Order: sequence, then structure tokens, then C-alpha cells
Amino acid sequence: MITLSVIKADIGGYVGHATMHPELIATAQANLERAKGESLLIDYHVTACGDDLELIMTHQQGTADQKVHRLAWDTFVDCTAVAKKLKLYGAGQDLLADAFSGNVKGMGPGVAEMEFEERKSEPVLIFMADKTSAGAWNMPLYRMFADPFNTAGLVISEAIHQGFRFEVIDVLEHKKITFEAPAEIYDLLLFIGSPSRFMVKSVYSRDTGEIGAVSSTDRLSLIAGKYVGKDDPVCIVRAQNQFPAVGEVLEPFSQPMIVEGWMRGSHNGPLMPTSVKQANPSRFDGPPRVICAGFQLANGKLVGPVDMFDDPSFDPARAQANQIAEVLRRHGPFEPHRLPLNEMEYTTMPAVMKKLEGRFAPLDEPVAVKA
Ligand code: 13P
Ligand code: 13P
Ligand code: MG
Ligand code: MG
Repeated sequence: MITLSVIKADIGGYVGHATMHPELIATAQANLERAKGESLLIDYHVTACGDDLELIMTHQQGTADQKVHRLAWDTFVDCTAVAKKLKLYGAGQDLLADAFSGNVKGMGPGVAEMEFEERKSEPVLIFMADKTSAGAWNMPLYRMFADPFNTAGLVISEAIHQGFRFEVIDVLEHKKITFEAPAEIYDLLLFIGSPSRFMVKSVYSRDTGEIGAVSSTDRLSLIAGKYVGKDDPVCIVRAQNQFPAVGEVLEPFSQPMIVEGWMRGSHNGPLMPTSVKQANPSRFDGPPRVICAGFQLANGKLVGPVDMFDDPSFDPARAQANQIAEVLRRHGPFEPHRLPLNEMEYTTMPAVMKKLEGRFAPLDEPVAVKA
């Protein structure tokens, strides 16, 4: 069995929250290279989406393995030291109460992991996003695994004709439920259409029971009963054969959707698919980005990556995303660009309310005329 682990954290932005400093990538690479030398890892790849450092690792320790998680944590701590030396923005942002960046809700790294028997050929696609949250994968995962207008194979491939099982978590009630697609797609959509509360955690083949996709939601699910904030997410998808083809997995991103997490984690914006090189959210700290690294696994070795959105066929999606950005930006501080009050990472509401407390009057009270 092979375990594919993607563990990520924002441990300091360069410049502001825009992108990743090369020294952080180099530090992470050195750590993971050492772990490979010690045979903890079979292979690794370090990359970044915006200000998020992404550790992609293969090993045989299973999911939620202490040694692998410690390796990731220590790597983030080492990278934080470098980030502090360079005074990068929000150094250690995602490491428990280590630093303050105007946002206390970032609590720890994000994790997506799956363990499986490597197939004769094992194409995997790793999606990584910045300036958004875990619910951003709901619509693309639905399209990949349940929408026949996206995934031709659901109709014409015997291997996936039976559909998929969706595991959905409720981050507010701290519960989970599974839905069978296509039989229960109307029920499924009722929930995952509210992506700030219900998030697709994983997807399984109904035919073989094998895992096809997993997203990073763990951190959010830990804090039940209140709004838990944004967490720039990652998602692993296996492709071909008993899963959608690579092109079917990428196809949802040809239609940019609106996600939450832009500017101060408090605005809606279009999710723009870009090459790794272009994953540097700058305009109004965005718009939100998604990148995709494709690999063929060969006995755990990560053959790749291929930069999957580095393709002119995604140019129209990028252009459309920028048009959506334009329309939303026009709303300035108004919803639906700005998130509703209960979902904002930042809000001055309590302070402003307190200041104006005495000035709120009953509706039927006459307006005071004296100066
Ligand atoms: P090939 O015939 O090139 O293997 O392609 C099959 C497929 O699934 C393409 O979507
Ligand atoms: P990150 O969550 O990517 O650090 O972005 C924070 C932010 O407030 C950007 O405006
Ligand atoms: Mg940041
Ligand atoms: Mg980020």
C-alpha cells in the first residue's frame, strides 16, 4: 500500500500574502530530502500556491502517521524560522498561536491523505488553492464524480457507470454523512450547495469501494459549533479506469465559480485556474487561485509534476474569472462581494456597534431635529 500525503501551511507570505519566498521552498526540500534518505518518505515534491507551502509526500506509513506529520510540522517550524529572519508577512501564520497577522483563526496545517494499492498505472492530480476555503472543492468534485455533462465516462464507461459515494462533513454540527450518486444527488446537492458549512471530504467508487478523492477539511472539522474561518485547501484526485479521466477531472475548472476567501478572507471572488508560475494572487490579494500538479506514481515515486493548468485551453476560464472579479469588485464593501457578517474573518462590527450603542432608537421614535 502507498500513502499519498499532502500537508500545507501558510508560514509567511512574500510580499504580503501574495506568494512564497524561494528560501522557504529550499528549506522544505532539504528537510524532505533528509527524510527520503532516512527512508521515511519514498518521494516528495515541494511547491507553493500563493502564500501556501505545499508538501506532497509518498510513503508507506499509512494516513495520519505521527512520524510523517511530525516531519511536516518540523518542516513548517524550520521554514517559519527562515520566514522570521526575512520578516515575511504573517511568519508562522498557520502554526498554533505563533504569530499574529490580524487573523487568529488560522490554527494549523491542512491535510489531505489517502492510502491505496497502486494500480498498473496510477495518474494522480493534486489541486491546491489560495485565498479560498475547503468548500471550494464541492462543486468541482460533484462535477467530476456525479455530473454526466462534465464526465462522459459516467455515461459511456462501464468502470464508472455505477457512480460514486460522497462523504460529506458538517463543520458546524461536527458530523458526517455519506450520499450515493447518482441515486441521491438531489439530497447531496442540498447540502454541498452550502460549502461554508458542508464539505465533501472524500469520494469512493461504488463499484470497488476504492478511494478516488480526498480534500483537506480536518482542521475545520475540529472546531464545532461556530464559524471556523478559511483554510486554503488541497485536494487529491485519482484518475482513469475506475475513476474519471484526467481531462474529466480538470474540466470543472474550465468554468470559474465564485468562492469565499478573497481579501482578508472576507470576500467572494472567482476561483481562477493558473499555472504554478502564475499562482501569485496580487490584485486585491487575489483573485483566488487554483493550481494542479499531475503525477504518475511508479512504486511510490512521484513521476512529475506536470503543471496541468499551464494550457491555453484554460485561457478563456482565466479571462472569465477576471471578468467576474471586475463585477464583484464594483460592489466594494457590499454583499455579495463582501461575505455576510457571520462568515467574515475580520469584522469591526462589535466595536462599531458598541460605539453606536446609545444611538439606536425604537423605529417609532421621532427623528431628533435639534443639532
Ligand atoms: P486513450 O485512448 O488515449 O488511453 O484515452 C482514454 C481516455 O480516457 C481519454 O479520456
Ligand atoms: P491567506 O489566508 O492566504 O494568508 O490570505 C489572507 C488575507 O487576508 C489576504 O487578504
Ligand atoms: Mg497568508
Ligand atoms: Mg494562503
